Amino acid sequence: MYVCICNQVNERTIAEAVRSGARSLDCLLQQFDIATCCGKCADDARRVIENTLVSDNMQAGYDLGRDACAVA
Ligand code: FES
Repeated sequence: MYVCICNQVNERTIAEAVRSGARSLDCLLQQFDIATCCGKCADDARRVIENTLVSDNMQAGYDLGRDACAVA
């Protein structure tokens, strides 16, 4: 399912980015230009980040407030 229709970025792509180190909307913006057009996807993209971190039990870094973009 598309999260960002303007840039055609789906939930699976965001989840893969999170698993590769993206931890913030800014990370997704750098990689996919998410939320750079109408911006309506920003909250949904954040939810996908959080849900992926929780489901993959990676929330520790997120809870510490890190804003890392480990992906090149
Ligand atoms: S839906 Fe993502 S910028 Fe419009």
